[in-house]
Amino acid sequence: MVNSAHSEHMHRKPCIWTEADLKGCSDMELEASGVTVRFGGIRAVENVSLRFGIHEIVGLIGPNGAGKTTLVNALSGFQKPRSGRICLAGKDVTGWRSDALARHGVARTFQAVRLFRGLTVAENIETALLSTGLARSAARARARDILGYLHLSNRADTLASGLNYGDERRVGIARALAMEPKFLLLDEPAAGLNIGEAEELGQTIASIRDDFGCGILVIEHNMALVMKLCERLHVLATGMTLATGTPTEVMADPAFKDAYLGAET
Ligand SMILES: Nc1ncnc2c1ncn2[C@@H]1O[C@H](COP(=O)(O)OP(=O)(O)OP(=O)(O)O)[C@@H](O)[C@H]1O
Ligand SMILES: [Mg+2]
Repeated sequence: MVNSAHSEHMHRKPCIWTEADLKGCSDMELEASGVTVRFGGIRAVENVSLRFGIHEIVGLIGPNGAGKTTLVNALSGFQKPRSGRICLAGKDVTGWRSDALARHGVARTFQAVRLFRGLTVAENIETALLSTGLARSAARARARDILGYLHLSNRADTLASGLNYGDERRVGIARALAMEPKFLLLDEPAAGLNIGEAEELGQTIASIRDDFGCGILVIEHNMALVMKLCERLHVLATGMTLATGTPTEVMADPAFKDAYLGAET
């Protein structure tokens, strides 16, 4: 449901990826295909295949150390896979750097928000946009729009070092969303938030999908949030795919119950 504040922003700054944007592409998905990442002897991600499309919210879950962040790093160009492929809208983008992928619509947030603490909130977003080649005036306007959309306008001139924890995390999302992603990868966006804040964030993520039309892959330990938000789940354990399916299917999967819930409790 788009409220009037959202409609105003979307009217000014449509950001929906449509079939027309993808002429010649076979699909509208970001895909990891048989991806393996190793660090020395550590099998961080082992032969994992995962794909998600625009307009879709997929949860990537699993115990600590399961390989979730590493897989997101591979999908967003922060980690080169040892083997396997990354495909963006049918195009092989394996080995592309993060900045190139960002220009082609793949944006992500970090498990620990990385803001420039000496810059204001608006400047943090503008800096990210300038690095993609956007002109200063356009970057400023887009930063203002995104901050408005995420109800952060009153923080625009606040130094990042002065933000409270919840706002800091929302600014991390604002910075990624300002890139106008077709695919948005969120690494534990609700980490450290209280129940009310996490619920609110869940509504924000659902609104982003509805208003911007992007596909969202969300790493999250908060199972209540995951169950409510995601259409599909992909479960990793020790770098390997343990289960996939709808939240209901995954919750009923004995392998999931043993390995994931067992490890979490
Ligand atoms: N840069 C690195 N160098 C060496 N080992 C690494 C590196 N990054 C991750 N690992 C290891 O790879 C494995 C997967 O780590 P990863 O951070 O992807 O897990 P995760 O599922 O995101 O865990 P968490 O829920 O704790 O964030 C772990 O054993 C981790 O210690
Ligand atoms: Mg992680």
